[in-house]
Amino acid sequence: MKLTYHGHSCFIAEGSKYSIIIDPFLNGNPAAKIKPDDVDVDAILVTHGHADHLGDAVYISKKCNAPIIAPYELVCYCEARGAKGHPMHIGGSHEFPFGRVKLTIAHHGSTTDTGAVGNPCGFIVTMDGKTIYHAGDTGLFYDMKLIGETNNIDAALLPIGDNFTMGIDDAIKAAIFLKPRIAVPMHYNTWDLIKQDANRFVDGLKGSQTKGIIIGVGEHVEI
Ligand code: NI
Ligand code: MN
Repeated sequence: MKLTYHGHSCFIAEGSKYSIIIDPFLNGNPAAKIKPDDVDVDAILVTHGHADHLGDAVYISKKCNAPIIAPYELVCYCEARGAKGHPMHIGGSHEFPFGRVKLTIAHHGSTTDTGAVGNPCGFIVTMDGKTIYHAGDTGLFYDMKLIGETNNIDAALLPIGDNFTMGIDDAIKAAIFLKPRIAVPMHYNTWDLIKQDANRFVDGLKGSQTKGIIIGVGEHVEI
């Protein structure tokens, strides 16, 4: 699986036949180097309703005729705006043509311009035999240990920006709970308020069973 970072919490995962985008915040994302029109995916996964995650999801859904996979209330919001949707909820999993998706808890909020849209989530995605965990926006929680025990995670995508989410020290603890093969920092340096030195995250994982890997914006890793 090819995993490309597009800044903030946006990733595109490409398998041998299918590709998905997670938290497609491109327009208005000062870090992103691509535009929604550059995106060609089979599904759009959105962790919560905040604009820096929902982003261009509705536009991309219409353009690609691809479903938005998200918590039920957020999917209702998107369907009312003309998107295709596949509602799910926390703890539920579903086998899609591209692979399996399971929703996890995330400790955060989820609002749009119209108000609250249910709970935020994280995603466990298995595609082509590889498993990624996108934590969404969240603080550290001890159930990450359970997620690590019940999933063989190849890559954990973890917020490190602090202020709105975990900071670096809690993200290091999260990676130790999750035991992924690699841990990739996200949700940092988009704005000054979440400015972080991601090298400190990488250094903090030395000696653990997880390798911290910084993916530059527009760059990718093979998992
Ligand atoms: Ni948020
Ligand atoms: Mn956010």
